Amino acid sequence: MKKSTSRAHSNIAFIKYWGKMDDEQRLPSNGSISMNLSNLYTTTTVEFDEALVEDDITINGEKNIKKIQKVARHLDRIRKQGNILTRARVVSENNFPMGVGLSSSATGFAALTHAATHALDLSLSEREISILARLGSGSACRSIPDGFVEWKEGNTSDESYAYSLYPENHWDIIDLVALTSKKEKEVSTTEGQKAAQTSPFFLERLKNIPGKISDCKKYLLEKDFTKFGTLVEKDALEMHAIMITSQPALLYWLPETIDMMKKIVGWRKDGLEVYFTINTGQNVHLLCRGTDVGQLVKKIREVEYVKQTIINKPSKGTYALTSHLF
Ligand code: PMV
Repeated sequence: MKKSTSRAHSNIAFIKYWGKMDDEQRLPSNGSISMNLSNLYTTTTVEFDEALVEDDITINGEKNIKKIQKVARHLDRIRKQGNILTRARVVSENNFPMGVGLSSSATGFAALTHAATHALDLSLSEREISILARLGSGSACRSIPDGFVEWKEGNTSDESYAYSLYPENHWDIIDLVALTSKKEKEVSTTEGQKAAQTSPFFLERLKNIPGKISDCKKYLLEKDFTKFGTLVEKDALEMHAIMITSQPALLYWLPETIDMMKKIVGWRKDGLEVYFTINTGQNVHLLCRGTDVGQLVKKIREVEYVKQTIINKPSKGTYALTSHLF
C-alpha cells in the first residue's frame, strides 16, 4: 500500500481553548483563534501493511506504551473511515521536546491524521481532516489549515472544525518561545481541561468569548499590534485564572514564568513592544513585530534561566512531503 509522509506545525492560541462541552467528541466549550508556528513541527510517515498483525508505532525513536495506545486508537478512527482493518507502520519525529507545553499532541495528531488519510487515499477535504484531527487532540484541528486560524466550537462533531482566516504571509509577526524547563508537565492539558467547569469564573469567561473572537479577528485584519497584543495577553491570564481556580487547582506557572512576565511588561515600558501568552508554565511565548525580533532575542539571551529560544514566523498548516522517515 502507499506510503505517506506529512509535516504539521504547532500552533499558538491567541484566544485560548479551555474546557470541553463533550469529552468523548472533544467538542470545546468555546471557539479559539491561533497561528501556526514555523519552527515547531512533527513529521510522520504512515504505511498500512497487510503483513502486520498489530500497529508498529515509533515516536521520537521510542516505543512508549501510553503514547502508542493513543496513536493506535486514532488509527482505528481513520480505519473506520476507510472501512479497512489493515494495521499500519508509523514513524513520527518532533523537532522539539514533548510534554513541555509546545503542543506536541497538536502536531502529532495533525501529522498522523494527514499522513494516514493520504496513505489510504481517503480524499478528505481540509475541513474533514481538521475534524478527524480534533478527535485525536482538540488543538490539533487548528494545525491543519494555513496561517492564522479560527476553530469554531460547533454543536456537533461535523460543525467543530478549523479554517484559515489569513495565509501565513498576511502579517509579519513573530512568536518567540523562551523555554525555561524541559521537564514534562505533571498534569496533561486533557486531564486539566476536565476541571475547567468547576471554576466559579468559567461561565463569565464563556460569556465574553464571542466578543473577544470578533475583536481578535478585527485586530488581525487591521494588523493593529497594540490592540492585538493587549487582548492576547489578557486572554492568556484569564485562561490561567480559570486553571488556578478550578478544583483541583491547576497551577502551571513556575517561578521563572512569573519573572518572565514581569520582564516583558518592563521591556514594554522601556519601548520594546512585546506581549506574552502562556499555555503551560514551562515556556512563555513572546509576541513581537518582525522588525523587533533582533532586539528581543538579545534581551532573552541575557536571561539566565532560559534554556532555549525558538523563533517562529507564521506558518503553513499541514502538508505532504515526498521524502519518508522509513
Ligand atoms: O488540545 P489540548 O487538549 O492539548 O489543549 C490545549 C489547550 C491550550 O494549549 C492550553 C490552549 C489552546 O487553545 O491551545
